Order: sequence, then C-alpha cells, then structure tokens
Amino acid sequence: MPWPDPPSFPERSQEVDAHHVLCQIVVDRLQLIGGNVSAISQYDYRSIVGRSFGNFVVVRELGRGAMGVVFAGYQKTLKRQVAVKLLPKALAASDSARTQFRDEAETVAVLDHPHIITIFDSGEDDEFFYQVMQLVDGPDLGELLARLRRHPVPSRRRLPLNHAIRVIREVLDGLEFAHEEGVVHQDLKPANILIDNRQGRALVADFGIAKTKHIEFFARGLVVGTPNYLAPEQAAARETDRRTDIYAVGVILFELLAGFLPVRDESGREALLRKVRDADSFFTRRPCECSGDIDHGLEQIILKATAGDPTERFPSARAFSLALERWLTARTAEAM
Ligand SMILES: Nc1ncnc2c1ncn2[C@@H]1O[C@H](COP(=O)(O)OP(=O)(O)OP(=O)(O)O)[C@@H](O)[C@H]1O
Ligand SMILES: [Mg+2]
Repeated sequence: MPWPDPPSFPERSQEVDAHHVLCQIVVDRLQLIGGNVSAISQYDYRSIVGRSFGNFVVVRELGRGAMGVVFAGYQKTLKRQVAVKLLPKALAASDSARTQFRDEAETVAVLDHPHIITIFDSGEDDEFFYQVMQLVDGPDLGELLARLRRHPVPSRRRLPLNHAIRVIREVLDGLEFAHEEGVVHQDLKPANILIDNRQGRALVADFGIAKTKHIEFFARGLVVGTPNYLAPEQAAARETDRRTDIYAVGVILFELLAGFLPVRDESGREALLRKVRDADSFFTRRPCECSGDIDHGLEQIILKATAGDPTERFPSARAFSLALERWLTARTAEAM
C-alpha cells in the first residue's frame, strides 16, 4: 500500500510541517502497533520454547527485534532446522494490520533468490503471527559491525574493502530480483542482512514485514532503533519505490567501509526530522573523511546512492552494483 502524500501547508515553517507529517503518520498509518507498546519489551517468550506452530517446533531464541522474536526451530515432517519469527497479535492492533501481515507473507514467499531468505511457511494461531524461514548459521551485519568496532586495532574496526563490496553487491543482486518482482523492502539495515558462514554469502531478511513500524515508533517518541537507514521520502511519509532501498544500501555501504556512521548525538525523533528537513546534511562528515578505504570514486558512489532526492540516486540496484563493479575494475587496473 503506498504511503499517503503528506498534506502541504505552504505558509508553515518546515519544522512545523515535519511535525505535522509525523502526527499524520501516527493517525493514518498506525497499523502494526496497538496501544500496548510497552508489551514489546515485556513480552515473555520463554514459555514458547517447545511449542508447535503447524509443522514446526520452537527450540531456542536467536534474537529479538522491535516487535518480534526469532527462534531456531525444527520442521517435524522434513526433519530440518528452520528459523521461526513470531509477532504477538497483541501488538497488531487493527484488522488491516493483520491483513497486511498475511498479504506481505504471501508476497515474500514468491521471492526465490540465493541472496534472499527463503520463506517456508507463514500462518497464525490465537496468539501469534508466525513466519518460518531458512535458518542462517552466522551473524547479521549489525552484530558483525558491533564485533568489529571492539577490535583493539582501529584500522581493523571495519570490514575489509573487498569483503564489504562483495556483501553489498550480493544484497543488491537480491534487491534487483525483488524490485523486478515489484517488492520493495523498505526496512533495510545491517540487522536485516544475514551472513551465512557456511556458504559465505549475504542474505536479505525481513522483506515486507516491517514497512511502517519504525517510523511509527519514532513518531511516538518510542525510539527502538535508528533512522539512519531510513530514506528521506520514508521519513516524510511520501511514496516509496526501489530507490528507497537504494538509499538504505548506500548508508550500509558507507557504514561497512568506514566502520561507523558520522551522525549527530540526537534522539531518533530529532534525526527523523532532520531527514525530512535537510536530508543531504544528515551525515556530519564526507565519506572520504571517514576512512582511507574510501577514495573519490567510492565517495561519489556512496553520495549518489544516498542522495536526498530519489531522482539523483541510482535508478536501480543493478546500476548501483555496476558502478561498484566498474570502480573495482578501475582500481585493480590502477594497482597493476
Ligand atoms: N533466518 C534467520 N536465521 C538466523 N537468525 C535470524 C534469522 N532471522 C533473524 N535472525 C536473527 O534474529 C534477530 C532478530 O531478528 P528480527 O528481525 O526480529 O529483529 P531486527 O531485524 O533486529 O529488528 P526488526 O524487528 O526491526 O526487524 C536478528 O538480529 C538475527 O540475528
Ligand atoms: Mg529483522
């Protein structure tokens, strides 16, 4: 469902407009979250271990997100390990939220690609929506970055350049496929990119599940994450398309190469307003000031991907990936 255009009030200041936009989001777009937001952190999932959802038994918790929990599980019929994501129904307020969850699960199920997590099943019982997916043996990129940041040697606090570019190009490959199928992710961030240690490849997770939830949290002052990866058009509740994902991947590329993102120490809500007001000044330093790995050519790629105006971004994931490939080829030729 497209986001509604924010109403325009030309006589107002941008600040007031931005505030108005946020209020509109809360009123118009509050779909997935009910009134009981505190329940997210308080929800007791311990009793879930051992419980069955269809053919799948929940075995142990793997991690928690803003709204749900992911468990390792077991498929009884095929005797294989799976991952089971649970979203408590108590947190999905309206009927439209429930319909949206179901529709999105169906959409995502058709995305069959080596760099997209395969969905095996989805459904619901009295208490939960559940989604059963391929179990990835490895960290997500958020965990990987956090681990790297603790490295005692500063130059090792980021992914090696070639590794970072390979991960990003794999993500772009998966996205190109999804975009061609008409699916935009809209919640790309390091935690939604999983690295399969066994096969050494990146997989994009959580297609279509999140959509509006982050912005709703921010709008209500209940910051559960960061708007760093949120495209300005999302922050302003305008229409999103494949370029919304291009923006997020550009930010992730920046972070992988630099080991950090140069952002202000401010609340998620303030950061969100900054994205709406002046997206191109969101980062406080230019990419090439943040890492010796980022030269002028790579900086141009990052800046193009993360342009505030979607029309200035790469038009497709494929175009973004090709630019990275060309940059790599030129660099290799220079080195010879
Ligand atoms: N298919 C999977 N295989 C293995 N681990 C997974 C899988 N999917 C998710 N995880 C792990 O579970 C954690 C929680 O995932 P979840 O999607 O609920 O949260 P998130 O991505 O951090 O935040 P959000 O709720 O905003 O998506 C992830 O950080 C990831 O490490
Ligand atoms: Mg996730």
